[in-house]
Parts: sequence; C-alpha cells; structure tokens
Amino acid sequence: MVSSLEQLDALMSPPGRALLDRLPDHDLSGTEVLRLGAEIRRELPAEVVAAAFTLHALRRRARAKFARAGEMVFTRAGLEQASAEPVARHRAARFRGAGSLADLCTGIGGDLLVLAAEAPTLAVDRDPLHLRMAAINASIYGGGAGVTTLLADVRDVSLAGIEAVFVDPARRDGGGRTGPRRSEPPLEWCLGLAERVPRVGIKAAPGLDVAAVPPAWEIEFIADERELKEGVLWSPGLARTPRRATVLPEGHTLLPVPGAPVPIAPPGPFLLDPNPAVTRAGLVEDLARALGAWKIDDRIAFLSADGPTASPFARTLRVLASLPWHPKRIQARLRELDVGAVDIRRRGLPGDVEEIRRRLSLRGAHRATLVMTRVEDRPWCFVCTDPEESHVNPSGIEGGPGARGDGDRA
Ligand SMILES: C[S@@+](CC[C@H](N)C(=O)[O-])C[C@H]1O[C@@H](n2cnc3c(N)ncnc32)[C@H](O)[C@@H]1O
Repeated sequence: MVSSLEQLDALMSPPGRALLDRLPDHDLSGTEVLRLGAEIRRELPAEVVAAAFTLHALRRRARAKFARAGEMVFTRAGLEQASAEPVARHRAARFRGAGSLADLCTGIGGDLLVLAAEAPTLAVDRDPLHLRMAAINASIYGGGAGVTTLLADVRDVSLAGIEAVFVDPARRDGGGRTGPRRSEPPLEWCLGLAERVPRVGIKAAPGLDVAAVPPAWEIEFIADERELKEGVLWSPGLARTPRRATVLPEGHTLLPVPGAPVPIAPPGPFLLDPNPAVTRAGLVEDLARALGAWKIDDRIAFLSADGPTASPFARTLRVLASLPWHPKRIQARLRELDVGAVDIRRRGLPGDVEEIRRRLSLRGAHRATLVMTRVEDRPWCFVCTDPEESHVNPSGIEGGPGARGDGDRA
C-alpha cells in the first residue's frame, strides 16, 4: 500500500521508477510477486517493493478511469473516489474562460488534471499524500506548472481573486447502512461558496436530494452509457438551465422540453427505457415530448412509441408480446416465440429475477428481453427484442389493458 509520503518519494526516485518500469504489463500472479519480490528486495526496502506492487495493481485498475493510468500514482481510497477522466473533462469544459480556478478537495487529482488545462488552479486538500499525488498526476497530464497546492482544510482557505471553484467533497456514510450518505464538507457549506466566488460547480452523489438544489442553480445528472455516475450542481454564474441529463462518452445532453403534459395510453409496438440520467433529472416527460412518445403508467418511467426511435437518451425495444404478469401465460407465450433465454428488467414490481427465470424453465432457440413492470398500475409483462433483431416472429401483439390503436394517444 502506498501509505506514506516517504514511500511515494521512494517510488518516484530514479530507483523506484526503474522498479515500476520493470513490472510487466499485466496483473501480477502470486508466483511473479514472489519471484520479483525476492529479486528486487536486494535493491530496495521491502515496504517500497510492496508499495510498488500495490501501485502496479492500482494503475491496472485505474485504466477504467484514466487514459494515462499507467504513469499515475494512487492510494486505493483516492482511486475509488476519483472522478473518471471523461466525466472530469465534460465538467471542466463548463469552466472555460475563467482566469483562475480552485479545485477544493482535490484528492489524487482526477479533476485537477483536466481543470489545470483550463486555467491556473489552486488545489486544496487536507490529506498530504493525496495532495502530493494530485500534483504528480497533474504534471503527467501537462498541467503541473499552473497548479499551486495548498495543504489545508478547505473551510480555512481564502478564495480572494479566484474566479471559479470546483468542489468534490468526500462522501461518508450517514445513518448506518440504510441512512443517507453525507458529504464532508457538507453540501450546505459547498452551496455557500457561491456567496464568495462568482462561479461554482459541486460534484454530488447521484442519489442527491433534488429538493436541496437552490433556486437559480442547475442540477445536471451524468451517466456514462447507461451507468448513472453523479449529479453536479452549477451555481447561477454557471447554470444554463434548471435541469439537464448528460450521457457520456458522446456528451449528449437533454434539457427540459416545454409542452403539454404527456398522456398515459396503452403500450404500442415499441418500448423506450429512458437513460437513468434522464429519469433522475425528472426529464422523462420532456424526452417523451422530444420523441413523440407517450407514457404507459403514471409512475413507471418506460415510454412507448409507434416507431423504433434512435435516441442517445433511451434504449428502444421492439414489443413482441404484451400481457398481464401471469407466469404460466408468459411461459406459454415464450414457448410460442421459441425463446430460450431472457434478460429480465424489473421496474415497479417485486420479485427475485433469478427465481423468476428458473420458474419459467425456458426452452427455445432465441433470446429476448422480459420487462416486468406496471401498466396503468397493473403488473405487466413485455417480451421484447432489439429493434434490429427480427428472428423472433412477433406473431401478433397480445392485447394489453387495451391494445392501442393509433387514435388512443392524445
Ligand atoms: C471525493 S475525494 C476528491 C476526488 C477528486 N475530485 C478526484 O477526482 O480525484 C474527496 C477529498 O476531499 C478531501 N477532504 C474532505 N474534507 C476536506 C476538508 N474539510 N478540507 C480539505 N480536504 C477535505 C479528502 O481528503 C479527499 O481527498
């Protein structure tokens, strides 16, 4: 474990770097650790060798977050909490044009390494090891010269002359296993930064209570593909809209679409499963308006459409069968469709997915997606495929709580 500044300095010294360079470009097996350890321990202290092995493993893991992970330095906790580079880049673009920045709660510098490319940046953390790592990581990305590090509690730092602040507070468990996750420093303190600095961005957990967002601030929910990553609060000086859903890596962004309330109507031939960023941002109706889709239930986020809509904000499924949730009938329908394997997506209905799959005891040549949900508050099932797949014959969509005709939608 890279657990002290001394170990980090030893790893960054010429012999330490030479040792890291000698480690192969794959995860080390137990045998390799023993063999290399025995060789190297003659040249370097055992704890430095152990730290090198840990850093090697962390660098391998960090490839999921950083393009240049193989050159960077991490602690295990610092890597876990670090922003992934694509998300950090997306956020940093909002600070373009600022003459000076502060990155509060810098950690190992996942955000610093891209913020420093925008403007001279003051990096503050109270953890000396993380702060040193952040400086090293920023210099790997070419931003080292513009970075000033400050070892301090962010609450004690003067922000005079700083034009924009990004803060990524540490998350810690609140009231036990089910209690809310609190941040350190708390969200209220982070929001107060806007009284001191014209432009503020705050990274928050994706489960953030949207009611805590003050008026005139923007809340942006960001997903990487379909994985919801975080919420970001933008102060009035950076806000462009009240709510936004962003889907990376392309950075597609959905804003509110004004219009009449979206009607609830019986499901049609296509089902749209909105991206979690859209759902979290409360933009499902807005997406429906943008795509000409409609709702199938008041509380469930699935939408329905007449055509195979291509949208970065929703996954489209072709509905092969639509029927009440009744395991025997579903089993019979799947047999007719020659479906032998299902991906089950459950939304708004209880039940153990694996148990359901077992009970269906499927036989058949094709694969389908089984959506368990509610339609007009009734437990419901859709058997679906990807729109491109046509090998399963949709031999007539079964009637729903009313199989809808074209006139059903307002
Ligand atoms: C979530 S991490 C930051 C991750 C960073 N943005 C990244 O991408 O690598 C939070 C950091 O906040 C620091 N921290 C928490 N409370 C602090 C405080 N009051 N003052 C200074 N640093 C603090 C912790 O030491 C930790 O390194």
